Amino acid sequence: MSEPVLKVENVNVYYGSIHAIKGISFEVHEGEIVTLIGANGAGKSTTLNTISGLLHRATGSVSFLGESLMKVQPHKIVERGLAQVPEGRRVFAQMTVQENLEMGAYTHNDDISADLEKVYGLFPRLKERMRQIAGTLSGGEQQMLAMGRALMSRPKLLMLDEPSMGLAPILVEQIFDIIADLHRTGATILLVEQNAQMALGIASRGYVMETGKIVATGTGQELLASEEVRKAYLGG
Ligand SMILES: Nc1ncnc2c1ncn2[C@@H]1O[C@H](COP(=O)(O)OP(=O)(O)O)[C@@H](O)[C@H]1O
Ligand SMILES: [Mg+2]
Repeated sequence: MSEPVLKVENVNVYYGSIHAIKGISFEVHEGEIVTLIGANGAGKSTTLNTISGLLHRATGSVSFLGESLMKVQPHKIVERGLAQVPEGRRVFAQMTVQENLEMGAYTHNDDISADLEKVYGLFPRLKERMRQIAGTLSGGEQQMLAMGRALMSRPKLLMLDEPSMGLAPILVEQIFDIIADLHRTGATILLVEQNAQMALGIASRGYVMETGKIVATGTGQELLASEEVRKAYLGG
């Protein structure tokens, strides 16, 4: 098998005396959509923030396209092609939709009109609202904008932290449809979700996290069918 896009090996993360991540290892290969599912507090965001360089207390190794990310500054990590859509979206509330997207392209200074067209093609609602101030968008539209902004950096790996959080079911479906579309067009995605059912439904493979550890792994279909996962996450 070819070299993985992302390889996480035996990573531990502490917040003071709290051992939040306990020796986790996983991989994402090119063209895959891999999901990390788990209950609130399992350590999903801590894992993503460690990969994207926002937390420096980690031990173990994280490599991206064959090179270590440990101790690399977050903006350098984005320049290497790894983009994260953070939990709670965090768009630039005072800027317009289009300005937010332009900010996402800060890693390159060539023509971005084709990138804008691509994002507006994926999210027609953003195109209709290109001059609207981002802070006045609905939650679902802000999620679309946060995803669009990340795509503007032309990522080789897109990491999404709970894109469904706080959205009405119809919007959750729309967001997942778009994630599945992105995957079909070749994007490599690491998707963190509490919504295990939806995430496993579109994932190539998944890992189940529980209190800082990975306790199960398999294809999306295998995990959906697994008795343990059903009991713990799918209310079965
Ligand atoms: N900044 C922090 N300081 C101390 N503990 C934290 C901090 N952020 C998260 N934690 C703790 O680390 C654990 C994992 O949290 P988190 O990664 O946010 O989980 P998830 O994203 O799966 O809900 C939880 O026990 C949480 O309380
Ligand atoms: Mg989280």
